[in-house]
Amino acid sequence: MTIHQVRAERRGLSAAIIVSCAVGAGVVGATLYQGRDQVTEARTVGSAVATEEYGRRLLRETPELLGHDHPDPDRRFIRSRLACASCHLKVGTEPGTLTLLQTDEHYPRFSGRAAAMTDIEDRINECMTRSMNGKPLPMDSPEMIAMASYLRSLGAQYEAMGATSKHADEPAAFQMPDRRADVTAGETVYTERCAICHGTDGGGLLATADPRQGFLFPALWGPDSFNDGAGMGRVLTASRFIKARMPLGQPDLTDEQAFDVAAFINSKPRPAMAGLEHDYPDLTRKPIDNGYGPYADDFPQDQHKYGPFKPIADYYNSLKPPAS
Ligand code: HEC
Ligand code: HEC
Repeated sequence: MTIHQVRAERRGLSAAIIVSCAVGAGVVGATLYQGRDQVTEARTVGSAVATEEYGRRLLRETPELLGHDHPDPDRRFIRSRLACASCHLKVGTEPGTLTLLQTDEHYPRFSGRAAAMTDIEDRINECMTRSMNGKPLPMDSPEMIAMASYLRSLGAQYEAMGATSKHADEPAAFQMPDRRADVTAGETVYTERCAICHGTDGGGLLATADPRQGFLFPALWGPDSFNDGAGMGRVLTASRFIKARMPLGQPDLTDEQAFDVAAFINSKPRPAMAGLEHDYPDLTRKPIDNGYGPYADDFPQDQHKYGPFKPIADYYNSLKPPAS
């Protein structure tokens, strides 16, 4: 399947979602269920060798291939039921927010969270242990090799794309409001714009009756979602994603709405990751919206979680040597 076919297919799917939303969530499920059956047929072809194609499947069908109730105990890696593609849209091939098309250019690079140089493989394991609430894949496993080679192949794909297809089709970038996020206002946004797909309890909607097949609409909080060490657990990171991408197919929230609904989602319970106090050994590198301490400043934890963030940003900017 070419990248254009994938796009066309998903564009059709999004249109179906929007149309069905006006009718009701039951229809949404039915429409997408059909789409998924075709996918299921397609994936019985091919075996688990460390190819780019296997890598793509691992990113798209993560819960089925690496879930905590996989029949083979050696394949049980993630405790969430998210797919990598729940956040990296169109299996990372959608340009713009959280695209994986340019990942290859970004590595190796220094990670403040790990205080070390990191490669694509290390970054995959950060999403494995945080966004997917799982354990790291061994570096020499077929799954790691396949995922990394898929991501590297996207780099070449990106270079071959024309300027029009590289262009991110999304609203203006999120601008942070200079106030504390309002969780109550966020709940209203959630009820009106998100609950129809993600569920009133944030638990999402499973793709089929078998939970091992993962979600049609992923969980935003609760035991099947990302843990509290994940990037999406930070209010500004979540705001940027939500402003750019949600509601899926119709991303029209204001900055204020995206900010408040991101805070609402992240005020809800989710799995806890052990050892978070060891993140960012150099605490001055910690993102200002990191909801867990310790910090290299005296701002309260609540302010790091919900804002206002501008005073924190101003404080760290004032520590930087003036540009000469
Ligand atoms: C809950 C949302 C979520 C899920 C699920 C998720 N990620 Fe991520 N991923 C993120 C966020 C947020 C970032 C950080 C983006 C940034 O630093 O600006 C990220 C970054 C990355 C990067 C670095 C991209 C770059 O160009 O530097 C890679 C590679 C990556 N993820 C791979 C994966 C893989 C593989 C999976 C599945 C095993 C996965 N992610 C699942 C949210 C997610
Ligand atoms: C039409 C259905 C639909 C609506 C409405 C919708 N989403 Fe989503 N959302 C999705 C789907 C589907 C995905 C996974 C991406 C994919 O499969 O392409 C997703 C992914 C996400 C993710 C990342 C994955 C995760 O589980 O954390 C977040 C965060 C999110 N949505 C937040 C929101 C918020 C906030 C709203 C309301 C403003 C919203 N969504 C409205 C369908 C929807």
